[in-house]
Amino acid sequence: MKELEKRIQADGRVLGKDILKVDSFLNHQIDPQLMQDMGMEFARLFASQGVTKILTVEASGIAPAVMAGLALDVPVVFARKSKSRILTDDAFTADVYSYTKQTTNQIRVDKRFLIGDDRVLLIDDFLANGQALLALKTIAEQANAGIVGAGIVIEKSFQPGRQNVLDAGLTNIHSLARIAAFEDGQVIFMNEEDEEVDC
Ligand code: G4P
Repeated sequence: MKELEKRIQADGRVLGKDILKVDSFLNHQIDPQLMQDMGMEFARLFASQGVTKILTVEASGIAPAVMAGLALDVPVVFARKSKSRILTDDAFTADVYSYTKQTTNQIRVDKRFLIGDDRVLLIDDFLANGQALLALKTIAEQANAGIVGAGIVIEKSFQPGRQNVLDAGLTNIHSLARIAAFEDGQVIFMNEEDEEVDC
């Protein structure tokens, strides 16, 4: 998605060898117009798939997921990372290992919000190692829901996330921006033909 790529080039900052900081428009301060455009793009990409629900994980997945849910006119469920006092024990759960933080967190979704008839679209802000997507897939499977695919805002294609989730049987992955490499602090995107390859 050219609008997103331009914004990453303009306002993203490369930290070290593999981190892209996008907190001025994506995951701290948020640009609502860009977020809405991304939601519409997700809706276009998955329009024919009969999506009934969107599933993401807090915190940074929520904004793109809500915009996609608005555009597809379906509810949005986000997995919680901490146990809420008002969340019942009747929850689907999965472990997420974070390579960035080197910690494992359990995420949970109340069983009332995912059912076997659901056709679930997974949404997240980054695809790096794929651990968050794999955990969301596990949760959808616990509900016996169908998974139509995954929509990602920024994929770091030089990391193994896509391969890891493909190996686990999750296909139909669409990323709005796919980063091939960071070179001298610059972001190099995958070329157009590669962007069309979604599984
Ligand atoms: P994975 O889910 O693909 O396995 O990602 P990984 O363990 O490598 O990353 C853990 C956290 O770091 C995730 O957020 C992920 O979105 C984020 N992350 C990964 N690569 C980048 C990057 O290059 N830039 C930024 N800004 N974030 C990155 P999280 O811990 O779930 O955070 P949040 O959603 O609560 O904000």
